[in-house]
Amino acid sequence: MGSTARFKLTTLLSLLSTLVAASSSSKGQTIEVNGNSYFMPAKVVTSLKISQGQLSKESGLVPLTVIRSDVSKLTTSIINSLVNSYEAEDDVFNSGFLETEGTKLIGLETDIYVTYNGTSKKPSEDVTLPSNWGNKFLGFSSSYKTKKTTTSSTSIPPGPYFLDVASGDVFEAYLLYSDVMGSFTQGLYGVGDGSYDVLTAGLQGYASLTIGVPSRLYYTKTTKQPLAGIRLGVKDLYDIKGVKTGCGNRAYYETYDAANTTGPAIQSLIDAGAVIVGKMKTSQFANGETATDDWVDYHSPFNARGDGYQDPSSSSSGPGSGIGAYPWLDIAIGSDTGGSIRNPSQVNGCFGNRPSWNLVSLDDVMPMSPLLDTAGFLTRDVHLWRAAAEVLYAGAHLKSYTKYPNSIKTIDFPTTSSTEANRVILKFLSNLSSFLGGANVTTLDYDSLWNFTKPSSVSADQTLETMLNITYPILISKQQYPLVAAPLYEDYAAANGGRKPFIDPVPLSRWDWGLEYPESQLEAEIKNKDTFTAWWNSTVQVFDAETCSDSLILYVGAAATPTYRNAYRSMPGIPSGFSASRIANFAGVPDMVVPIGQAKYNSTITEQEEYLPVAIDFIAPHGCDLMIFNLVNELVAAGIVKEPVTGSTLYDDEITYY
Ligand SMILES: *[C@@H]1O[C@H](CO)[C@@H](O)[C@H](O)[C@H]1NC(C)=O
Ligand SMILES: *[C@@H]1O[C@H](CO)[C@@H](O)[C@H](O)[C@H]1NC(C)=O
Ligand SMILES: *[C@@H]1O[C@H](CO)[C@@H](O)[C@H](O)[C@H]1NC(C)=O
Ligand SMILES: *[C@@H]1O[C@H](CO)[C@@H](O)[C@H](O)[C@H]1NC(C)=O
Ligand SMILES: *[C@@H]1O[C@H](CO)[C@@H](O)[C@H](O)[C@H]1NC(C)=O
Ligand SMILES: *[C@@H]1O[C@H](CO)[C@@H](O)[C@H](O)[C@H]1NC(C)=O
Ligand SMILES: *[C@@H]1O[C@H](CO)[C@@H](O)[C@H](O)[C@H]1NC(C)=O
Ligand SMILES: *[C@@H]1O[C@H](CO)[C@@H](O)[C@H](O)[C@H]1NC(C)=O
Repeated sequence: MGSTARFKLTTLLSLLSTLVAASSSSKGQTIEVNGNSYFMPAKVVTSLKISQGQLSKESGLVPLTVIRSDVSKLTTSIINSLVNSYEAEDDVFNSGFLETEGTKLIGLETDIYVTYNGTSKKPSEDVTLPSNWGNKFLGFSSSYKTKKTTTSSTSIPPGPYFLDVASGDVFEAYLLYSDVMGSFTQGLYGVGDGSYDVLTAGLQGYASLTIGVPSRLYYTKTTKQPLAGIRLGVKDLYDIKGVKTGCGNRAYYETYDAANTTGPAIQSLIDAGAVIVGKMKTSQFANGETATDDWVDYHSPFNARGDGYQDPSSSSSGPGSGIGAYPWLDIAIGSDTGGSIRNPSQVNGCFGNRPSWNLVSLDDVMPMSPLLDTAGFLTRDVHLWRAAAEVLYAGAHLKSYTKYPNSIKTIDFPTTSSTEANRVILKFLSNLSSFLGGANVTTLDYDSLWNFTKPSSVSADQTLETMLNITYPILISKQQYPLVAAPLYEDYAAANGGRKPFIDPVPLSRWDWGLEYPESQLEAEIKNKDTFTAWWNSTVQVFDAETCSDSLILYVGAAATPTYRNAYRSMPGIPSGFSASRIANFAGVPDMVVPIGQAKYNSTITEQEEYLPVAIDFIAPHGCDLMIFNLVNELVAAGIVKEPVTGSTLYDDEITYY
């Protein structure tokens, strides 16, 4: 960062407190330091009692850097190396935070607070700070041998803060980022009492929200808080206390109050230390919408991959878009009823899991079909992916298998290396088979297997395609209508003189289509689903005591095929039919997306060759989720799968990946 610290303070609400003292409270401020904009929440995290004459100035807010060391004799080089490590591990902290402008004419000041957290009874220091750094004062918890002592009301972790020099109050610093991909619906921060509030900060940005992330240095992962400091985006169909839930529909957002509770799924992540930075876009009521024309109420987020004008898929479009684009966002929670985590993961180039059905409570989450709805993650980081899953699914007590099946069954895999994507897929398959000790690779033709092994209760001419053709659309439309649509119609009408709310074409056409069928059709389709579950479970992929599953079933999730967002499409149809992606929906089994590479296409936008993701889906029996998480972690460790980065290409060294 530059050597000149510029410090500019934009007061948002402090004036208000003198004008209408009775009911006002600060909602934080935006502060610029060294060219970066920070949000400063109103909550005081500690108060410093600082000796007279130590402060850089007498009033106002100044950047404060807290340095923490347990070394009994502190030296200049130790301070320097701590500052370097802070800068390396945290995007919020930058050394500009420490620097005071040489000439004090423009009034730029910073302060530094060094705290000792070691065990020596007589810690000492011999430190000469660089001349462009701010005033140093030393902590007192176990004091350094110095006359100048400073005490803190509570101990605080290292990192960047703001200090009100008049009161000694210390506040946190959130670095601000612009949501240039349109992935979010609202920037949020925790106000400290279990509820969340809208971030009161704005940056330059064309129709972009502003998202704030707290310093990573504030958090230390522990056994109880394995997700401490992890930046989490939440699909906007999960309730978060203090925040309105919109489900991608303007009328819904307008009709209902802010949520009074955070649902158990999100709460478990918060309790494990995750930091919610915002709500993220969902296509409307979690129905599948394709950019751009299906997205009437809100604009579809952008997909960072390739030319930047590819459909981000849906319905966890915001989570997929954000994870593919923003290095400062670690993980997002989406939901998958019929592909809503998997499809955005595939095309935005990230890991994503539809878990086994019914692993976690979906209370306070907008339902689509409770018999199919699941909660899972999208992320670039496989360690974090598993850690977050262990937290979210803790109540299911999943067994963590570390031995893997030695049979691989592929659905509709390419047979020749005719395209670059096919070469990526076949190389991966061969690497996976070797990794599993020479696993047997066979093809799975579930249609023909069904013909030979279908239960006797099913008529002889019934294929999977005919039996399950409308199972999915009936379940989602006939279950979502009474749970979401009918109450919305009623509540909106009551509040708006009997008017009907606007509904996007996709959910509206599905709901209306479902209304044409009697309730008995729902019962019939649930029976068809159960028939499929039992057949799949007993015949196609079965539990194994040692490896959880007798096989790994793989299908191609993405093969670098473009879906441009600037195409005009036909009116939405009904999501009928049966395909590999429906297996997990109906059988209730996990289906996990693994980005395995990328391949080139000729972009009609940039008129250049660009890269799009290639992804494979892994299917395992119910409850085998951790086996796949462990396997994917091992594949990354072995160099067979590489964790993607954000942006147009999935890898910095793209040459090795095709
Ligand atoms: C002191 O704090 C630093 C970072 O905050 C930590 O790495 C170190 O382990 C702590 N030392 C002790 C003795 O607690
Ligand atoms: C939250 O609680 C308030 C006060 O009890 C109530 O008016 C409001 O409707 C509740 N909001 C929701 C979404 O339940
Ligand atoms: C691979 O699987 C097929 C089909 O189940 C089987 O016929 C074949 O013997 C197996 N090969 C090996 C080497 O296990
Ligand atoms: C399964 O059986 C149906 C009808 O009995 C037939 O039409 C279909 O071709 C068969 N499918 C396969 C893959 O064998
Ligand atoms: C599946 O359902 C759709 C929508 O109702 C219908 O158009 C199509 O003909 C059906 N296909 C089969 C194989 O039953
Ligand atoms: C699937 O298989 C498991 C393990 O064999 C069994 O416990 C479970 O009940 C089966 N589920 C269904 C729906 O058949
Ligand atoms: C892109 O177009 C050029 C020119 O037609 C062609 O040579 C090249 O193979 C194409 N690349 C891909 C990935 O299709
Ligand atoms: C994957 O397989 C290819 C041969 O197809 C081999 O050259 C490469 O080393 C393997 N990669 C890993 C990481 O095992």
